[in-house]
Amino acid sequence: MKKIIIAIDGHSSTGKSTLAKQLAASLNYIHVDSGAMYRAVTLFGLKEGLISETHFDVNALISAVQTLQMEFKTNENQTTALFLNGSEVSSEIRSMTVSNFVSQVAAIPEIRIRLVEAQRQMGAKKGIVMDGRDIGTVVFPNAELKIFMTASAETRAKRRFEELFKNGQHVDYDAVLANIKSRDFKDSTRKKSPLKQAKDALVLDNSALTQSEQFDLVLGWINAKCQE
Ligand code: DC
Repeated sequence: MKKIIIAIDGHSSTGKSTLAKQLAASLNYIHVDSGAMYRAVTLFGLKEGLISETHFDVNALISAVQTLQMEFKTNENQTTALFLNGSEVSSEIRSMTVSNFVSQVAAIPEIRIRLVEAQRQMGAKKGIVMDGRDIGTVVFPNAELKIFMTASAETRAKRRFEELFKNGQHVDYDAVLANIKSRDFKDSTRKKSPLKQAKDALVLDNSALTQSEQFDLVLGWINAKCQE
């Protein structure tokens, strides 16, 4: 079967990465979670003191991102993980602190340019599933299959809360819901590459779908695209 590019965009915490991971494993494709890359830049900024509650050094962050090394590699648990300057950062990038600052980082045009360039290189040979906010609109406007995922804010907050709880982070559900709503707003109203559905994207509202129903539905879409 021919290899294609699958672009998955949509609101935060709709399970884009979970679906992308399942598809990549079943099709033997590469999976790239582009949100993880914006999170890694945010984590770096926090660790280096370029970002804090009172301070946001945009210029230092822009120059740091030019030399940051980001690589998706298989870790010791045989899952694809993001390595930042050689160290795995998969769980650190999911913290609430990173979540609270990442929209601000993702709104910086120079940072987007650098990350989009890296993402395009990763997809040069096709056979890739990439998830994010601007994959079908900016990164791969010619992707063979574009999916736009959505679900109600409450459904998403509940899922995110459970994921954080499982990782040992005991946060308030209302804080998670507020974070999701605020990210929706920031992601869809920012000037540079706002979250929007590509004209040719297929909409996947998974509020009432199980993971396996969703997986089967999307596999059907992929088979149809690969036969075109
Ligand atoms: O998918 P996520 O929640 O891990 O994404 C983290 C942040 O990065 C979120 O605020 C949106 C932003 N993002 C983006 O602007 N463009 C992408 N391609 C992926 C994520």
